[in-house]
Amino acid sequence: MAEKVKAAIRAIETYVPPDILDNHTLEQFVDTSDEWITRRVGVKERHILLGEGKGISDMAVPAIEKLLEKQDIDPLSIDLIIVATVTPDHVFPATANIIADKSGLKNAWGFDMNAACSGFLYALWTASRFIESGRSKRALVIGADKMSAIINYHDRATCVIFGDGAGVVLLEPSEEGGIIDGRMYSDGHGRHYLFQKAGGSCYSPTIDTVMNKEHYVYQEGKKVFQYAVKNMAGVVKEVMEANSLKAEDIAYLIPHQANYRIIQAVAEMMEIPLDKVAINIEKYGNTTNATIPLCLYEWQDKFKKGDNIILTTFGGGFTWGAIYLKWV
Ligand code: UT7
Repeated sequence: MAEKVKAAIRAIETYVPPDILDNHTLEQFVDTSDEWITRRVGVKERHILLGEGKGISDMAVPAIEKLLEKQDIDPLSIDLIIVATVTPDHVFPATANIIADKSGLKNAWGFDMNAACSGFLYALWTASRFIESGRSKRALVIGADKMSAIINYHDRATCVIFGDGAGVVLLEPSEEGGIIDGRMYSDGHGRHYLFQKAGGSCYSPTIDTVMNKEHYVYQEGKKVFQYAVKNMAGVVKEVMEANSLKAEDIAYLIPHQANYRIIQAVAEMMEIPLDKVAINIEKYGNTTNATIPLCLYEWQDKFKKGDNIILTTFGGGFTWGAIYLKWV
């Protein structure tokens, strides 16, 4: 019997803006130090998208253009585009519409997906279902965020962590491997610990919401840290057990990049050595929906056909999940 069709990642591209905000510059805005940020978070610098009127589509489009050009793919052959983000260009229309228009993806339908830092994994999981069902033959999954748009650079609890960036993966059907399994979770009780209060329908923008700084990210870091470690380790364990995978069977673990110590703790609990774990938080910070594609892009040359790779994430909501894929 023929193998069931799976969704495989065929190509990855990224875009990070050229402007860099390093820890020493942040020392001028808030009471922090390069030493503290490096030791407690693991970030040295992050890229920031500057320029009036620039949004995530300005990062996603160059990544898509590179991908289509390098792979020699006709933009008209893309039939689905899902954009994972918490910082869309506008509240509506969906940034998927804007990106599709700017990139000439005239035959693609699509939508935005908001699952905070877990959005990229949720989107990848969703797109993989469309590929498996035969409804999509070529899908683009984009993770992009301009966190600098919603960060208060006078709040040291958040400004040291986040950065801007975008990544795109091309999904196509495969009978040789691809996305084998996944588990996605959410628990809304966590919504109080990491959120942006104003800008939605509860608190639409007013002078007061602006003066009260309610359009910025609010985070209770310690609480989020504890849940992140527990839930990422839990979901990775679940996916490994469901697929009879032991630590030594895992070629690479690709975790969301929120804090070096979270990644280290999850890897330790899974007994996966750090040389098998993708970590680039020092260069980009937490780019929210772009962290996993940025890692996939930088690690892809190490992957071999048949490698067992696990992606995992945790974010506001709370939301979390893991995907197990076999590299093709
Ligand atoms: O991607 C979405 C999910 N987000 C996350 O997973 C983020 C999870 N949380 C974290 O990464 C960490 O909790 C933070 C990086 C946000 C904070 O690190 P922490 O080790 O949990 O710090 P803390 O809040 O426990 O604070 C420890 C100390 C405190 O000083 P005292 O009370 O011990 O004197 C803070 O006031 O560090 C101080 N502190 C800072 N010092 C210098 C807190 N933030 C800073 C700072 N610079 N930026």
